[in-house]
Amino acid sequence: MIGRIRRAGLVLGAGLLFAASSALAQAPAPSEETPEMFPAGPNRDEAFYACIACHNFKLVAAQGLSREKWGETLDWMVSKHNMPALEAEERGKVLTYLAETFPAKAPAQQGGWKNPFLN
Ligand code: HEC
Repeated sequence: MIGRIRRAGLVLGAGLLFAASSALAQAPAPSEETPEMFPAGPNRDEAFYACIACHNFKLVAAQGLSREKWGETLDWMVSKHNMPALEAEERGKVLTYLAETFPAKAPAQQGGWKNPFLN
């Protein structure tokens, strides 16, 4: 009897493992991301949690923008997508992380041939 219950537990465990690994194969949903998945820097947590209410942070990290353009992006999230406006201090922190971690690419990097093996 006990043996049977144990075996049932094992089967259930394997099923859960399978479900977890197939979920990993998909793009991360906001709830599966953690701040640690992104480059360390001051205010990382603030930026992460300000943005993941609606979409994953990977979408944010894919951009490279100047501080000014990041500011425009925040304004756009607020005016167009109903993001709650950030307090001035919070906004400054978020902008600092975004602009320092995902800066606009230098013009020299944009044009010309890129060695695909260096990426
Ligand atoms: C209240 C919801 C909400 C919040 C909070 C939010 N966004 Fe967005 N964001 C959206 C939606 C909706 C889209 C999809 C827009 C579209 O369809 O182009 C989007 C798209 C984006 C994009 C992609 C733009 C593109 O060119 O594809 C960027 C970058 C972005 N958001 C940055 C941010 C940042 C940075 C934060 C946090 C400071 C943030 N968002 C927080 C709703 C939100």
